[in-house]
Amino acid sequence: MKNQAMIKKFDRQSKTYDKRRGSDPTDKYRARIIPEAWGKVLEVGIGAGGNFPYYNDDIELTGVDFSPEMLKAARTAAADYPFETTLVEVDVEEVQFEEDSFDTIVSTLSFCAYRDPESVLARFRKWCRPGGTILMMEHGESTNRLLAGALNVLDPVSMKVLGCHQNRNISDIVRHSDLKITKEERHLAGCLYMLWVKI
Ligand SMILES: C[S@@+](CC[C@H](N)C(=O)[O-])C[C@H]1O[C@@H](n2cnc3c(N)ncnc32)[C@H](O)[C@@H]1O
Repeated sequence: MKNQAMIKKFDRQSKTYDKRRGSDPTDKYRARIIPEAWGKVLEVGIGAGGNFPYYNDDIELTGVDFSPEMLKAARTAAADYPFETTLVEVDVEEVQFEEDSFDTIVSTLSFCAYRDPESVLARFRKWCRPGGTILMMEHGESTNRLLAGALNVLDPVSMKVLGCHQNRNISDIVRHSDLKITKEERHLAGCLYMLWVKI
């Protein structure tokens, strides 16, 4: 799918994500993983800033997203939080950052959308400095067989309407990369993946 078509899909969802900040069903999980971000933080696919309420005050945040409408909402919201925030409109699959630039890389609910998630992980490996942390809270394939079957059926529609795959096994994708999972949790019938990862 052409990028412009994907960007439009996410632009259309920006108001929903803006309203949900702090009251999304995923917030209790965000509250457990996001406070572990430290130092220079890169958040990919930052959306409308759904993780802002959970960051510590002393981080230095760079947020990237290819949707201008999501970034507009994030920019307004960022003014309410004390940490320093830089927001950049770029494609995560194309942007270049220096090697070892970040102490923490955060990705929440964005791996469903990438054309090539394996290459995004290779980018994380390059951008995260040794000793740094990669924190992921993603959705994908369920551990419940019935639900997994239903999500497989739904996948083409979800991709067409939302720009979002429903059946990726995020743990497997990370496990097959050069990164190391140090802690893993699955919630919500296994659809929600929480991964603490090191390079
Ligand atoms: C489902 S939303 C999640 C937003 C936010 N991470 C959250 O947890 O609330 C996915 C976000 O990833 C962004 N995104 C998807 N693919 C992208 C890409 N290749 N480059 C940059 N942003 C991307 C979308 O624009 C959207 O804002």
